[in-house]
Amino acid sequence: MEIVVSGIRSTGNLHLGNYFGAVRNFLKMQEENRCYFFIADYHSLTTHPHPDNLHESVKQILSEYLACGIDPEKATVFLQSDVPEVTELYLLLNMNAYVGELERTTSFKEKVRLQPDNINAGLLTYPVLMAADIIVHKATKVPVGKDQEQNLEMTRRFARRFNQMYDVNYFPEPAAYNFGHALVKIPGLDGSGKMGKSEGNGIYLADAPEVIRKKVMRAVTDKGPEKPNQEMSEPVKNLFTIMKVVSEPDTVEHFREKYNRCEIRYGEMKKQLAEDIIRFTAPIRERILEISGNNVYLRKVVRTGAEKARESAAKTVREVREIIGFKPF
Ligand code: TYM
Repeated sequence: MEIVVSGIRSTGNLHLGNYFGAVRNFLKMQEENRCYFFIADYHSLTTHPHPDNLHESVKQILSEYLACGIDPEKATVFLQSDVPEVTELYLLLNMNAYVGELERTTSFKEKVRLQPDNINAGLLTYPVLMAADIIVHKATKVPVGKDQEQNLEMTRRFARRFNQMYDVNYFPEPAAYNFGHALVKIPGLDGSGKMGKSEGNGIYLADAPEVIRKKVMRAVTDKGPEKPNQEMSEPVKNLFTIMKVVSEPDTVEHFREKYNRCEIRYGEMKKQLAEDIIRFTAPIRERILEISGNNVYLRKVVRTGAEKARESAAKTVREVREIIGFKPF
């Protein structure tokens, strides 16, 4: 049995990238493993230091996760800020994390570029908090998208360093996980990069059908292939990548053949893609609306989740303190 931890920042809504990068794997894993699923509301403060609606965002994203099928009867579902043991482990790990290695991470450099007026220490130590989230439950597998690969590498490094430093074999080294396949990167609709919350290029699970149609029809393409079997441009490849996760294989094949024969009409492909996305998201959207209105249920989920998560986290922190050498008088 694996111990699985997965998380999401509480800024913005859940998009197709989150679903196909992380949630889908988690859903498969929750059946047979010890699974922890949490909302990283502390992490969201690194980019949104004055969140006007922190609580509402957390509630929304929690509802979205539950609507996708994360089952609180099977997995432990909780909020990061409900488990203070994580922050203690974060502090302890910070003592063995080096400023140089943190400054070199891609996501830190990217954030420095994006928010030059708010290069806070939380941003720098983001991977340490993430490592604490994961190893506080002694996780072995972490279902994530490709963008989190480096953070997972850092997590393994901190776990390994702790073990070496105190000459123990305490923390397992958790692996980023996608069932033996390469980690997934779902692209955005703007022709480059990944679908992201801050990029404004995403399709959200809570988007209404007419919003999805509008977004997909506006997606960037090119002027079409000029010779048979021509290499696809980035934006067109991206549309096919999205199609591969939401449409039937026959549909993808149909448009690929049309592309290869230079007969493709992107408008037609987009129409089909939009309908397939809507078919996939519509039932989830319905459940989101239902669940987000049920405060009693949500409260019960996070309270039970916090209790279970704290139990596991407290045990680890108690043992870590002992290993480091804190002793009661
Ligand atoms: P976040 O909130 O950006 O994204 C949540 C999950 O969705 C995946 N993801 C994607 N996968 C494929 N294609 C995309 N376009 C795409 N966009 C997002 C992410 O890889 C992630 O798995 N640092 C984390 C939150 C976090 C966490 C953790 C995750 C904090 N502590 C511990 C796992 C374990 C983050 O910002 O994810």
